[in-house]
Amino acid sequence: MSTRPAQLRALHLENIHPEGAQALAQAGFEVDRRGEALREDDLIAALDGVQVLGIRSNTVVTEAVLDAADDLLAVGAFCIGTNQIDLAAAAQRGIAVFNAPFSNTRSVVELAISEIIALTRRLTEKDQAMHAGIWRKSASGAHEVRSRRLGIVGYGNIGTQLSVLAENLGMQVMFYDTADRLALGNARRCESLEELLSSADIVTLHVDGRAGNSGLFGEREFALMRERAIFLNLSRGFVVDYEALRDHLVSGHLAGAAVDVFTKEPKSPGEEFVSPLRGLPNVILTPHIGGSTEEAQHDIGAFVGGKLADYVRWGSTSMSVNLPGLALPETTGGHRIVHVHRNTPGVLAQINGLLAADDVNIDAQFLGTWGEIGYVITDVGAELTEATCEVLEKLPETIRLRVLS
Ligand SMILES: NC(=O)c1ccc[n+]([C@@H]2O[C@H](COP(=O)([O-])OP(=O)(O)OC[C@H]3O[C@@H](n4cnc5c(N)ncnc54)[C@H](O)[C@@H]3O)[C@@H](O)[C@H]2O)c1
Repeated sequence: MSTRPAQLRALHLENIHPEGAQALAQAGFEVDRRGEALREDDLIAALDGVQVLGIRSNTVVTEAVLDAADDLLAVGAFCIGTNQIDLAAAAQRGIAVFNAPFSNTRSVVELAISEIIALTRRLTEKDQAMHAGIWRKSASGAHEVRSRRLGIVGYGNIGTQLSVLAENLGMQVMFYDTADRLALGNARRCESLEELLSSADIVTLHVDGRAGNSGLFGEREFALMRERAIFLNLSRGFVVDYEALRDHLVSGHLAGAAVDVFTKEPKSPGEEFVSPLRGLPNVILTPHIGGSTEEAQHDIGAFVGGKLADYVRWGSTSMSVNLPGLALPETTGGHRIVHVHRNTPGVLAQINGLLAADDVNIDAQFLGTWGEIGYVITDVGAELTEATCEVLEKLPETIRLRVLS
């Protein structure tokens, strides 16, 4: 059974924003903040005596790491993606994983808005000409965004927020999503992608990274777009065929594009960025910075740090990506039994039977299950005997037991 050590310790790698350590420090953690990512062997050594690990996208948390990390209770991915963590292996060891799915939503939306305006006014061309000493004062091909039709493909966290801000600029918003989504404000839902493509002056992609979206946008989709329309992709690189986009820009069918995500992105600043879109006029290329603002990093730090602290302090798994989600109230005295188990019939009955036999009354109980994993929180007022805790821990279904007081 995990009991609270004299000093709780957290390890933060990859320059996580200092805000990420705040909530943990307030929860009594000593936080070791480092700039680098660690490779497997070094990570295993560094995790000795550590209850909480914080990483970004460059530290890989393998099953071997999780196996060796006896003290580890939770991993925080201070980013959006969690592919770098073996989530199933973590769940099977009762280690909760959290990420920040929407802390940088606003940053992406603001970049999209700025690019929509810049492309519609052909600002990059004007800027380049000025830097080359050319004064080209002309209204030709430059438009206001007011009244223009914005087609949003993927109406999730980012798509909906973009919808609201674009309407505030006077744009007519339409969207297409494969799931049922509530249309915000005056936005109009399209029945098909084709309907959106044939109606919008600006098409912007905000779909998620599911495998089925690979190649979603190619020659056929670009051909369906309106003459002199503008295209943006700030979602995932593999969604778009950029050769096809180039053809439609070079032919003049499309008037401009902004792209932030690419099929192949350089791994380090020294590696050359290679793309068929380089060198084209009225094309804005950015190095996957849609969510990269200081505000987003601050918010990610606060969000994930808070989730980790809440899990360690009172077992809350709200928005965990690998354990059943229970948004729990703080404990108010007494003891809280935190039990991660294999999800088979009768576990709850066994726990309650053991407590009843020990004459322990249950004040409150919360259960969540997700696939093979069950998670039950039991609040009790009475003292728990060591013998009861030992039996609970030895149940064949028990993965991890903690008692919080
Ligand atoms: N450029 C960046 O730096 C950056 C930063 C954050 C997020 N993103 C990416 O932006 C995208 C959107 O993020 P989000 O938080 O809004 O995601 P989300 O999961 O909230 O929304 C995605 C939406 O797309 C819809 N969708 C999926 N496939 C579709 C399809 N083929 N056609 C139509 N709709 C489809 C889903 O139903 C969902 O409503 C993600 O791919 C995310 O990884 C990029």
